[in-house]
Amino acid sequence: MKNRLSDSLTERILKLKKEKNAVILAHYYQVPEIQDIADFVGDSLALSQNALKTKADIIVFAGVHFMAETAKILNPSKKVLIPDLDAGCSLADSCPPDKFSLFKLKYPDHIVISYINCSAQIKTMSDVICTSSNAVKIVESFAKDQKIIFAPDKNLGGYINAITGRNMVLWEGSCEVHDIIKSEAVIKLKAEHPGAKLIAHPECKAVILELADYIGSTTGLLDYTMKSDSHEFIVATETGILHQMRKASPGKEFFIVPTDATCSCNDCPYMKMNTLEKLHACLYNEQPELVLPVDIIEKAKKPILRMLELSE
Ligand code: 13P
Ligand code: SF4
Repeated sequence: MKNRLSDSLTERILKLKKEKNAVILAHYYQVPEIQDIADFVGDSLALSQNALKTKADIIVFAGVHFMAETAKILNPSKKVLIPDLDAGCSLADSCPPDKFSLFKLKYPDHIVISYINCSAQIKTMSDVICTSSNAVKIVESFAKDQKIIFAPDKNLGGYINAITGRNMVLWEGSCEVHDIIKSEAVIKLKAEHPGAKLIAHPECKAVILELADYIGSTTGLLDYTMKSDSHEFIVATETGILHQMRKASPGKEFFIVPTDATCSCNDCPYMKMNTLEKLHACLYNEQPELVLPVDIIEKAKKPILRMLELSE
């Protein structure tokens, strides 16, 4: 019954999408039924590259608030819809603009590199943006002696410091979904599956990253599982990515590192606020719409475009 209902919902969404010349962009952490209906599923970098080049009149962003903001900043003349306006991000929230502007004052000779998981206002205070897939490249595009503030993720920043030998000043932010992953849970899974490769998102703590066979963005993790000869993977990130991993490699086994004794999952509560029903309603009503003041769009656009140029 549920399948029949979601089938007809899917048909209605596809019809509306065509009528309204809309495109659905979805992040890998969305529920499988949203990923399956999307025109494009990807990591933050690929999603922003797609948002920039789309010819659609409406962008439905099935992701979290900062991702929809980025799409709006890159494409201000388009209508950007998000299924649930409250789908925020604990990492973006860990860097309030008023506190960050005071922090910046302490380091007047530093440039600011901000991870894309931040608010549009933080982007206006940044020299360049990065994502988990291009962070090392962006940091290394600056001279070794360039003083840098990295915000807001202390785990990603610490990881880049470790592999590039830099000493960037780190804002003390983190993602509640990745920061909670414990080494005890990883070690237990490794003991149960001794042949499995451990793959981790760089938002995880250093103790997890030190144990990992591969560290990368969601796209990087997916590609690794497709190319690897291994048949088992312990996955230290959000559960949603397993959908594409299983589709791409049906013969392989994936074990998400659980954060809770009651389930084998690690869900982002914000990503999972979006549902197929809300996606249909937002396309039908053309609400909620993501709107931003023009001056914020203008200022935030520069560091994002700089990132996209440096990523080519
Ligand atoms: P990716 O850019 O690697 O997809 O990461 C987005 C994110 O929110 C991770 O928590
Ligand atoms: Fe934000 Fe973490 Fe959710 Fe990614 S997983 S959207 S960083 S709260």
